[in-house]
Amino acid sequence: MDGIQIVGGKPLHGTVRISGAKNAALPIMCATLLSDGESMLRNVPALRDIGTTADLLRTLGREVEDAPPEVRVGGGEVTPEAPYELVKRMRASVLVLGPLVARYGKAKVSLPGGCQIGTRPVDQHLKGLEILGAKIRIEKGYIISESGRLQGGEVVFDMPTVTGTENLMMAAALAQGRTTLVNCAREPEVVEVARVLNKMGARVSGAGTGVIQIVGADELAPFDHAIISDRIEAGTYMVAAAAAGGNVLIEAVPVDTLEAVIAKLRAAGVTMEPDGNGLRVVREGRLQSVDVTTSPHPGFPTDMQAQFLMLMCLAEGTSRISETIFENRFMHVPELGRMGADIEVQGHTAFVRQVDALEGTTVMATDLRASASLVIAGLVARGETIVRRVYHLDRGYEHIEEKLGALGADVARVSGLDA
Ligand code: EPU
Repeated sequence: MDGIQIVGGKPLHGTVRISGAKNAALPIMCATLLSDGESMLRNVPALRDIGTTADLLRTLGREVEDAPPEVRVGGGEVTPEAPYELVKRMRASVLVLGPLVARYGKAKVSLPGGCQIGTRPVDQHLKGLEILGAKIRIEKGYIISESGRLQGGEVVFDMPTVTGTENLMMAAALAQGRTTLVNCAREPEVVEVARVLNKMGARVSGAGTGVIQIVGADELAPFDHAIISDRIEAGTYMVAAAAAGGNVLIEAVPVDTLEAVIAKLRAAGVTMEPDGNGLRVVREGRLQSVDVTTSPHPGFPTDMQAQFLMLMCLAEGTSRISETIFENRFMHVPELGRMGADIEVQGHTAFVRQVDALEGTTVMATDLRASASLVIAGLVARGETIVRRVYHLDRGYEHIEEKLGALGADVARVSGLDA
């Protein structure tokens, strides 16, 4: 098993470039199912989840050349069945459901099953597709859907759901007539999917607000699209620079999508200045504690909570971090505790008290963002830290050890660790 080995204590200096957004690339790869012909995606990050999605599209029958930063999806006869073996590797596989139902009138997609960060049901996806006319039943762990052509309708989501909104936008793009989606997720990745659907010939308006209108097309065309930068990768490098100290230019930062994170980092005493198409992050003095509550975009993203909580271990005073999106997203806390952090969790809130220093040791996380927070902890800890199960990081951070290494961190990938 691979791990990341970090010798802490080195400030970060230099430039790092942000890769394409994983959570935009995944639904856009699935959107290729809505048309025949060859679609081209550019600025795709080289990540495990991209490979899994490519495998899924191949299993469905499409030809895929995945050579990030370019991914080409060609034609091929589709069998609309997504097996458990692939869906269990990545929950986002459920994003093929909307396109398959809309395009082929039927689909058999495995239910995603358990997840480390919460129960994460897909009831809103199913409810929405039913409103558009899909006949859905659950059989032996599979979502089975049959329908004629979908018809436009009005779907009111019980809560803003990112992949739910994307699945419904994609389905509605081939439905007959107009669909209105209410209480939508406003994340930038939703806006990016809408952009692609418009390139394909659908008429989508309102993406980025709570209400999205889609006028479906009879047929959609293939597309060529360059994926936006990954705001969570950018936020993670901001926190890394803030934690380790130093002066880092982060290039290709989607600044306007990170306002909540930037505001909290500034409040904590980090200098953040626009510089070209990037952001310069400087931290020289002490950090101040600030409170954070995660919420749907444009609020503070749940995908930045673990990293920010780690930063607060070093900040003067006590910080209160509340997680409102997923019920089980403090798995980094006991591991940070093993490194000497002083954190108490009460329900959905973690109280983080300042400690003088963290001590390096072997740690392990069971999800992507928790793993990122442990890598950042390793950058500031005394001595050597080994973050095990690096495959979590490989799902969401392209070449993380090289990017941190180029900033002067002492980071290496090590293999042969016990399972
Ligand atoms: N929810 C339901 N029913 C549904 C759908 C969602 O109850 O049918 C609940 C969820 O359980 C959760 C809340 O609604 O409490 C919001 O979940 P959402 O559906 O928005 O999450 P998601 O679409 O499954 C995406 C990202 C996650 C990110 C969340 C929240 C992708 C592929 N994944 O997940 O990214 O944390 O939105 O912003 O876009 C990551 O990249 O590490 C990651 C986990």
